[in-house]
Amino acid sequence: MRFAAVSALAIPALVSAHGIRDAHHARQAPAANAVSGSSASTSAAAASSTQAGASAAPSAPATGTATAVAASGPAGASTLTFTLASTNPSAIPLTEIIANAPSQATVAATTTFAGGTVPTFLPSAPALPDISKLVPSNYPTLDVVPPTDSPEVQQWIKDVAASGVDIPNFAPTTADGSCAANAAAAADSTRCWWTCGGCKADDDIEECPDKMTWGLTYDDGPALYTGDLLHYLDSVNLKATFFVVGSRAISYPALLQNEYMAQHQIAVHTWSHHPMTTLTNEQIIAEFGWSKKIIKDVLGVTPTYWRPPYGDVDNRVRAIAKAMGLQTSIWTRISPTATFDTGDFDINGGTITSEQVLNNWQSIIGNATVIDHGFIVLEHDLFQQTVDIATGYILPDALAHQPPFDIKPMVQCLNKPLSDAYIETNDNKTNPIGSANATGSATGSSAEASGGSNSSGAASGSNSAMGIASPGSMAAIALAVVSGAIALFL
Ligand SMILES: *[C@@H]1O[C@H](CO)[C@@H](O)[C@H](O)[C@H]1NC(C)=O
Ligand SMILES: *[C@@H]1O[C@H](CO)[C@@H](O)[C@H](O)[C@H]1NC(C)=O
Ligand SMILES: *[C@@H]1O[C@H](CO)[C@@H](O)[C@H](O)[C@H]1NC(C)=O
Ligand SMILES: *[C@@H]1O[C@H](CO)[C@@H](O)[C@H](O)[C@H]1NC(C)=O
Ligand SMILES: [Zn+2]
Repeated sequence: MRFAAVSALAIPALVSAHGIRDAHHARQAPAANAVSGSSASTSAAAASSTQAGASAAPSAPATGTATAVAASGPAGASTLTFTLASTNPSAIPLTEIIANAPSQATVAATTTFAGGTVPTFLPSAPALPDISKLVPSNYPTLDVVPPTDSPEVQQWIKDVAASGVDIPNFAPTTADGSCAANAAAAADSTRCWWTCGGCKADDDIEECPDKMTWGLTYDDGPALYTGDLLHYLDSVNLKATFFVVGSRAISYPALLQNEYMAQHQIAVHTWSHHPMTTLTNEQIIAEFGWSKKIIKDVLGVTPTYWRPPYGDVDNRVRAIAKAMGLQTSIWTRISPTATFDTGDFDINGGTITSEQVLNNWQSIIGNATVIDHGFIVLEHDLFQQTVDIATGYILPDALAHQPPFDIKPMVQCLNKPLSDAYIETNDNKTNPIGSANATGSATGSSAEASGGSNSSGAASGSNSAMGIASPGSMAAIALAVVSGAIALFL
């Protein structure tokens, strides 16, 4: 019942908030002067649909305030400014990767794993839980910031206080967490607010160390079309990192198990996909705690990496993440206002065209080829459009690129083994993230210890987990959930 109840949250407020976030930072659109690279057919759409009426997954805007490399020009007329090196022969034509596109058939989870199945690809990984035993009513309401008075959250609050990590005493940002609405916070360098000005903590993950290496990531799933993406990745032997929204994990546990068992990296993308700087310490703890818990309950392992929705992170949020064993991971930024964001999220909302997304992609790989390190790009597995553009165009183009990219999950692009991606399998000696000793302070701007290896925070604890008055209305930034699709897939 509670799942059906979340289906009517407002999309317009969300789109509005997203627009505000993008408005000041969108990159100018490249000049349009070249030809379409697509010769695709519609064959992928021909399979029988089992999801009639289940339109889209929840809307979850993901481009951060200061983060859009992507152009946000008007939807509509737009051509490719380059020729793709390759496309998928069964790609959906670009003219059909548009807002309000009819729902395509989806590929469901391909394998059903019995509870007790032991992953063999991770040394000493726990057995898979039996997901048929999951009880959704034991988890918070989908797409809403979880309450902080539950026994679980109260325990996590105590754990954070006991971690020794010093939580900076900044008030939450207000409204939608935009820079414009929070000028003083944006100007406060001690906050080190990534979205507003691009401040990076020393241990933030923004890039991969090795040139031409792409830490491939997808956010906001698992969702209806994640299976299509998994199928394609498997067909070309690619592994990726999935930043998982807790509310989606409980909706699609079988897909999440398929991601994990295919040796993709699973990481945290919060429970409800709110801008984290707008939340109180206790709410942030609830978001992380429930996300970690549902992923562990589905996979048997707990992620050690997380990505902030919208890239919205400051030193307060970073510190709470660290105290909960989560390493902050964002995506590549090449200037104060330009990041490696394809803009794919916004095709569904109609504020960017597929051609513009591909032009952004071309700009990203142009820059990726000249920078002296590897890179991480913001993309999503939430919508059919984002999956269509990835599987039909971006990934085939990337695979055909010369010189070749080395494409792998984020943790492996950092030259760490996949086992370091989870608390239970992490080598706590060489990778202290997520270990009991990972207690470095995240205070100060970008001058703090990297990795938290020996830095045993100030342990003042005075600010830890102190509730701070909640800022603006949650409703104004609430995630939209379309139709009853979520309830159908429990
Ligand atoms: C790099 O990115 C900038 C800003 O988005 C863009 O103007 C430029 O064309 C890109 N460079 C290449 C070589 O694509
Ligand atoms: C690393 O530490 C965590 C607890 O912090 C523990 O659960 C895990 O088993 C340890 N990993 C190894 C490989 O010992
Ligand atoms: C943390 O590290 C210290 C030394 O740096 C060590 O003595 C202690 O046993 C470690 N604690 C845990 C729980 O690993
Ligand atoms: C961490 O502590 C150990 C022993 O306490 C020391 O050998 C090592 O150099 C320290 N590492 C860093 C990065 O400070
Ligand atoms: Zn997101």
